[in-house]
Amino acid sequence: MSDNEILNMKGIVKDYVLGDEVSRVLKGINLSVKRGEFLAILGPSGSGKSTLMNIIGCLDVPTEGEYRLSGKLIADQDEASLAQIRNKEVGFIFQQFQLLQRQTAYENVELPLIYANMPEKERHDRVIEMLDKVQLAHKVNHYPNQLSGGQQQRVAIARAIAANPTILLADEPTGALDQKTGAQIIDLFHSLNDEGRTIIMITHDRHIASHASRIVRILDGELSEGDLSDA
Ligand SMILES: Nc1ncnc2c1ncn2[C@@H]1O[C@H](COP(=O)(O)OP(=O)(O)OP(=O)(O)O)[C@@H](O)[C@H]1O
Ligand SMILES: [Mg+2]
Repeated sequence: MSDNEILNMKGIVKDYVLGDEVSRVLKGINLSVKRGEFLAILGPSGSGKSTLMNIIGCLDVPTEGEYRLSGKLIADQDEASLAQIRNKEVGFIFQQFQLLQRQTAYENVELPLIYANMPEKERHDRVIEMLDKVQLAHKVNHYPNQLSGGQQQRVAIARAIAANPTILLADEPTGALDQKTGAQIIDLFHSLNDEGRTIIMITHDRHIASHASRIVRILDGELSEGDLSDA
């Protein structure tokens, strides 16, 4: 891996076995991502986007192929070190926000910092700083059901970046939002990317993908470098 490469996939295959039928959902994915990139993975429903995201985020393992994240060969890690890699390297953002409903905005953002063993005073300052960054400093004590969809997604983004992960990994981050609110989320991604954060955003929406600095397409489990003209 070159110095500024943070992710490298070679020949990644994912098979799902149902009964005696094997379906190959990822068919030999090669992908290299450099620090500071804002990458969109664009593909239609069923093309394998979430399957790929789960592998990138170390939530699932490939059937075949080699995956390195921050230089570490993922297949070599045991469950405990995988969990550690997930916490340290990846900040997840999901279509349905996936906030803890019984915890406030503050507590949701604090959680990854507790996992990271950050001392309480530092943690408090960090949570406030993160909620301020997503312009929700005035909503710290609100529960998710007291926030709009766009506000919930901003809490989720604050949570995702709180522990300063290597990559921000977003699966259809604007999928549950109206166009205007979605555009605000994309603006936020732009400013996070300007700060040097690496973003991988998965989407079926060409318009959303067009905001990234690099687009790769996934179709039927195969990846190709692409732009928006070759649709
Ligand atoms: N656990 C599983 N077992 C069997 N097949 C699966 C499993 N998960 C996904 N698949 C199949 O893999 C294919 C890709 O699914 P995936 O969820 O990765 O698609 P996607 O691109 O994220 O779609 P969408 O845009 O609808 O979210 C689909 O045909 C799906 O049915
Ligand atoms: Mg999906």
